[in-house]
Amino acid sequence: MSRLILDSSNPPEPGHVLWRSPSNIALIKYWGKYGVQLPKNPSLSLTLAASCTDTQLNYELRKGPDDGQIDLDFFFHEEENEAFRAKVLEFLTSLLPEMPFLKQLKLTVHTGNSFPHSAGIASSASGMSALALCLCSLEDRFFGTLKDPEAFDQRASVLARLGSGSACRSIFPHAALWGATPLVPGSSDEFAVPMGDHIHETFKDFHDDILIVSQEEKSVSSRAGHALMEGNPYAEPRYAQARTRLSSLLDAMRTGELPEFGKIVEDEALTLHALMMCSNPSYTLMRPDSLAIIEKVRQYRADTGHQVYFTLDAGPNVHLLYPGELVVDVRKFIDDHLAEHCEGGFVQQDWVGEGPEEI
Ligand code: DP6
Repeated sequence: MSRLILDSSNPPEPGHVLWRSPSNIALIKYWGKYGVQLPKNPSLSLTLAASCTDTQLNYELRKGPDDGQIDLDFFFHEEENEAFRAKVLEFLTSLLPEMPFLKQLKLTVHTGNSFPHSAGIASSASGMSALALCLCSLEDRFFGTLKDPEAFDQRASVLARLGSGSACRSIFPHAALWGATPLVPGSSDEFAVPMGDHIHETFKDFHDDILIVSQEEKSVSSRAGHALMEGNPYAEPRYAQARTRLSSLLDAMRTGELPEFGKIVEDEALTLHALMMCSNPSYTLMRPDSLAIIEKVRQYRADTGHQVYFTLDAGPNVHLLYPGELVVDVRKFIDDHLAEHCEGGFVQQDWVGEGPEEI
């Protein structure tokens, strides 16, 4: 690709791009990486709808000499936020070799989440994917390099991955797979691919109610957790297990076989947390209330036969996954029996969505 540099004798007018991008919930977990943000095993996720980030990127040609730095102002919910700004600046700076035009601009980011910041819901997937989409829109506007929608999505997924691995899966509607596997032609460690056409309709009307057990910042970040997989004695068998489970899960999702789906998804969540407990040093992100919810979900399933399953990310919050036809019953179950385990009774209702949109 030719170097993406703006012609300062013919500068672009000041302008902006704005994207809304959702979070996603992993069914087969990404846990362990190598190289530059590449996954040790393929992962598969459902794209969510309600938990999303809106990011507006304003730009104008920068005045003054090129000092090799990026000129960035950053606002989170209309307030300056130095910690987030530093993270975004690090990410944008890492992209300079391939996007040198970024340092020719004065950039202002306005971003915000649809969920309360303190809710304990990870915003890196929605946040980094929204930013990556803005960068692709910018690149295409200036250089016309991403006219093909597939090329646009693939590039957005690569950039999102460089910001946060799981973010690369948020680019696509319904479901996405990240990581090279012979099971899915065209799959890659570099970007996620859409899986919406390979799953049963059941999973397009599917809910994920997020039970917020704790709103506290995690004691061990995902980045540190991935790094601890390096010395984990179970790492290699785990990566092999993820591949085997992926194969079974893809079959179950193709046919809409919920009990098989649920078994794999729950096993994955518990394996993720078991890996944390087996790390050196060992750590635990589940809380007593996470376990209480898991027990109650199992009992509810045994009592009612309803196909409701749990999963967890790298934190104490429990995601309840179930088909749309159960929404009334499950919401009542949550209100009557599970909300008492949530901090402030908070539950973030979510469901499978259509992916990001430019607004
Ligand atoms: C447990 O994507 O947050 O949610 O690449 O270091 O930013 P970084 O990690 P991140 O890890 C997420 C791990 C997970 C499982 C998953 O989403 O697949």
